[in-house]
Amino acid sequence: MHSKKHSILKRWHSLTARPQKLQQKWQGKFWQAQSKGVVNVECRNCRSFDANHKQCSIGFGTPLRKCVVSSIEAHFNDCKNREVLEIGFGRFMLARNLIRKSGGRWTGIEPQVNPNNIPVLGKGGHGDAANIPFPDQTFDMAFGIQSIEHWAQKVGGRTPSAYKTCFAEISRVLKPGGTIYFDAPIYFHGHAMFVAGKLQDIRKCFDDSIWQDVRIEKWRENFAPLEQYPPSDTVVNGDWPIELDDNELQELLEKREDLSVYMIAITATKR
Ligand SMILES: C[S@@+](CC[C@H](N)C(=O)[O-])C[C@H]1O[C@@H](n2cnc3c(N)ncnc32)[C@H](O)[C@@H]1O
Repeated sequence: MHSKKHSILKRWHSLTARPQKLQQKWQGKFWQAQSKGVVNVECRNCRSFDANHKQCSIGFGTPLRKCVVSSIEAHFNDCKNREVLEIGFGRFMLARNLIRKSGGRWTGIEPQVNPNNIPVLGKGGHGDAANIPFPDQTFDMAFGIQSIEHWAQKVGGRTPSAYKTCFAEISRVLKPGGTIYFDAPIYFHGHAMFVAGKLQDIRKCFDDSIWQDVRIEKWRENFAPLEQYPPSDTVVNGDWPIELDDNELQELLEKREDLSVYMIAITATKR
């Protein structure tokens, strides 16, 4: 499908998404437990799976973006009275629209916004995960959509932020009992932990003395009966600068044929 059509459908979906309809779609347990703190959303059991046509009912985007959309639908359909911070908001509006439509207040920070644009509650402005321009205990929730994997990325002339600093900042601006949601791709791009699928290292970013109920949802790791989504040449040929060392890259190349890009959504609660 032409990418312009995709982007129109994506914007249309964001504009027309209705929280109540999505509460019905995603109510109850939409995942299957895998191991302690890890759950699976398999395509065959996903609420977005169209069994009649054996396809994902999200009609736009890459397989990864379809999971991003589904997971946002599931997690942001009921934000009544919640003060919510988005970190690295870019241009994708679905979560922001759902937060507002379901009665929450959306605020965003984004390093690519002009530094003169100081964020205020209810709007977007300049800011970084490692330096959040808001007072302590301001938010009920903090989240990022396909953003966390870039924070500590060294390549591309970036100044990397340490995850420890970022999560200390996030914890600082959250109220006690506040929640987090961060989704990211695996075998795709960003920091080496995400490119190489090192889930245990990703889990270690969430210090148990600060966070409880840490959970990793794996979306589309089990993609049957849908198609495999192999890591792209840009990753495995090194065309896209990634931070894997030679051994890690070799390991990835050796198992490439069996790999499929998937999405994780990490959720936790501040103690
Ligand atoms: C792949 S884009 C995703 C944008 C948007 N959330 C979406 O889903 O389309 C990654 C975003 O993370 C932002 N980002 C990168 N490093 C960041 C950091 N240290 N703090 C906050 N945001 C960051 C980028 O500026 C960019 O907007």
